[in-house]
This record gives sequence, structure tokens and C-alpha cells, in this order.
Amino acid sequence: MNAPRALTRSSYQLRCINCGSVRSDNATNLRCLHCGDLLEALFPDRKFDMPALRRTWLERRGSNEPEDVSGVWRFRELLPNLDEKAMPITLREGNTPLYELARCARAAGVDRLMAKHQGMNPTGSFKDTGMTVAASFARQAGYKWVACASTGNTSASMAAYAAYGGMRSLVLIPEGHITWGKLSQALDYGALTCQVKSDFDGCLKLLEIVVQRKPIYVLNSINPYRIEGQKTTAIELMEQLSWNPPDHIIVPGGNLGNSSAIGKALMEMKEAGLISALPKLSIIQAEGANALVRTMRETGGKRLIPVHAETMATAIRIGNPASWKKAVRVLEATGGTVEQVSEAEIAIAKAQIGSDGIGCEPASAVTLAGLKKLVAIGFVKPHERIVLILTGHVLKDPDFTIKFHRGELLAGAPRLSQNRRPPVALEANADAILKTLEQHERSQA
Ligand code: F0G
Repeated sequence: MNAPRALTRSSYQLRCINCGSVRSDNATNLRCLHCGDLLEALFPDRKFDMPALRRTWLERRGSNEPEDVSGVWRFRELLPNLDEKAMPITLREGNTPLYELARCARAAGVDRLMAKHQGMNPTGSFKDTGMTVAASFARQAGYKWVACASTGNTSASMAAYAAYGGMRSLVLIPEGHITWGKLSQALDYGALTCQVKSDFDGCLKLLEIVVQRKPIYVLNSINPYRIEGQKTTAIELMEQLSWNPPDHIIVPGGNLGNSSAIGKALMEMKEAGLISALPKLSIIQAEGANALVRTMRETGGKRLIPVHAETMATAIRIGNPASWKKAVRVLEATGGTVEQVSEAEIAIAKAQIGSDGIGCEPASAVTLAGLKKLVAIGFVKPHERIVLILTGHVLKDPDFTIKFHRGELLAGAPRLSQNRRPPVALEANADAILKTLEQHERSQA
């Protein structure tokens, strides 16, 4: 039996985050026509029977309809509504697991630690939850081309959704600074992929010029529909926690779309009465790409301090984050904080997440590295309930992992060695293997 297909879907408007002017036509321009700032979706007349809505969401798990199987569209009452006849482009995104990280909890000095793994999405990153919504709106608006600037994951995701939805895709990536895994996805899914002699921030600027000259829809997280889809990470998380919110949610910060989306969802759920308290949402950046950390510490969130970004966690190698104002608002509303972590701290945290049998890409590991610091300064208490958002799959960047375990990454950094598990080269000989195993057991005892 199919679950009910739709309760009344909410109507929405797009509003400028700076001057507040509303685009009543919901046109696909991504910026405010008056002041050029970003837009966000607003749901003025939304009223739901919350217990009924929660039941409907659960019932949809028993349905085989694509819209219900998707962990994004399952929550469609809280998203902008597609036209009556339009079908979403869905690769059955969302529905990601919430794991216990026992070893990582010990490493961070907390009683319990959970991680919601957004890397378990169809293309291996959280981007899919936003892409299904934004790509569907692109197709509904009649676009033949979609495009993004990317550090890799957005391009992989966009290329997949564009292909599945019958659109063409243009990718601008910073030459030499995206991982092979991500680049290979964009190529395989058929994107027109341009390696540009610039960084991510330069690629995004270029893209905004290109789309003024051709009807191409930008699917970066400046697109408000991306943010709407990514809200479902937090909605699904609350459902997994039986609507009992944790004390802390910790996310990596790059262009700051994801933290904005999760924060927006938390605020909307609180306002709707789906949760009774707001978790503190904290954002962690790499020291070499710390624009938001500097912005908060040096200006109190009033003025963006762009930086020249440099980090081996290439996904967050971003110096001029587009959604910084939205992220500041989330920090203020939830009482979260910002923290920065070094390259060595990221590498150690990544290996520790791996040793729990979970794994993630380097950018996701900033969450554990940051948590350790937040515990050390007393912002997070050991008994509190904490959820890390892991944003990308461990197979996105095997080069980093292999170099780390072989001792080729940050060679000479002493604290790294205890987390390294290098491969052992042996002759084809059972005795040699058993001897190695016994040596290993002794070293672990
Ligand atoms: N983690 C991963 C694995 C990412 O790919 C990104 C961003 C982030 C964290 C940061 O998220 O930008 O919303 O603050 N990657 C983008 C891309 C920019 O092009 O794939 P954010």
C-alpha cells in the first residue's frame, strides 16, 4: 500500500537576506534585484498538524514511490513545492545513517559521540540532498543547462542529477585542487568539465558572469533551493533521535551553505513545534581557510574577512564564503561557536574516524578535530549529546588516506605516527604473515 502522496504542500516566497525584499514571482534569478544579496525561501502561511505530519513521514518509509523513498522528498511539506505535475529528479538521496563513534568519543574525551554520515548519499556527499531539489526546480523552469563552481563534490552531484534529469551540466573546478575521485565522477556523469586556472572563489565569480550571458542555472549553494534540500539532513536527524534534539551539532565550514541549511531547518522545526530546544550548531574550518573564524573573532560577524585559502582538505579550500551572512545568523540563533583546526589535527581525526570503521574525507574530519578543542575549552561538556555531520565518503580522497598511512603526509609531524597503519610488504609465505601478526599483537598489548 502506498503512503499518502501529499498533505497540503506549503507555498513559499524567495526573500532577500539583506534588504528583505520578496520575489513574489519566485523567478530563478539567484540574487536580489535590489541589493544583489542572496535569497532564502520563506513559508509565510505554513501550518501543520505536527503529530499527523510525523506519522505521514514515517508511513512513507513503507512506500515504493520515488518521492517517498527519497530521504529529502519524504519531508516535502517543509520544502518549496514543485508544480503539481512536475516529478522530482531523485536518486533516492538522504536516508543516511546515524552511527556511534566509540573510539572517537574516547579520543575527544566525551561519554558518547554520534555521527550522521552524509557521505552515504548516492554520489558520496551531502550535496545530493540539496541537488535533488535545485535540479528539479531547474528542470521545471525549463533550463537545458545547469552549472556550478566546485571543489569537487558539488560538481559530482550536479553532474549526476543533471544527467539523470535529462539536462546538460557545466563544471568549473580549480585546476590541480580537486581529488581524482570527485573529478572522475563529473567526467563519468557526462559534465562539460573545465579545469580553470584559479581557485574555487575565482571559479564562482567567473560562473556568475558566464550565466549573465547564457540561460544557465547555477546550482551552487547560493541557490536557495539547494539550501532547502539540505535542510532535510537536520529533519531526518531529529526523526532518528525521536525528535529529542542533541545539545550540539558540529559541521565543517567551506562556502557555508550546509551550516546555513542545517541551521535554517533547526529554526524552522523549533518554530513549528517539531523540536522543543535548539541544538548549538558549531562550525569548524581548516586553519588555512578560516574566513568565518576570523570574521567572528575579529568583527563579531559584522564584516566578512576573506582569506587566501590553503588546505589539504580540498573540499573546504574556500576563502570567500558566499553564505557567510546566513551562517552568522545561525551561529547567533543557536548559540554555536566557530573553531579552526590544523592540517595535522585534521589528519589525526580522519584516521580516528576511520578506526571506528566509518571513515570520511578530510573535510569531514574537521568536525572531530574541532570537537576536541571545544571540549578542551569547556564549550562542549563530556556528558552532552553531540552529533558530528560527516559530509563526504572516505573513498572521495584515497590519496590523502594512503599518503597519511604511509607517512608521506606532513612527514615529520610526530603526533601523527601513532595513528598510522601502513601496509606491510611481505613475501608469499605463511610464516612471515604469522610473524607480522604476532609482532602487531605485541605492539598493541
Ligand atoms: N565537506 C565537504 C566534503 C564538502 O565538499 C564541502 C563543500 C564542505 C564540507 C563545506 O560545505 O561549502 O556548504 O560550507 N564543498 C563544495 C563543493 C564547496 O564544491 O563541493 P559548505
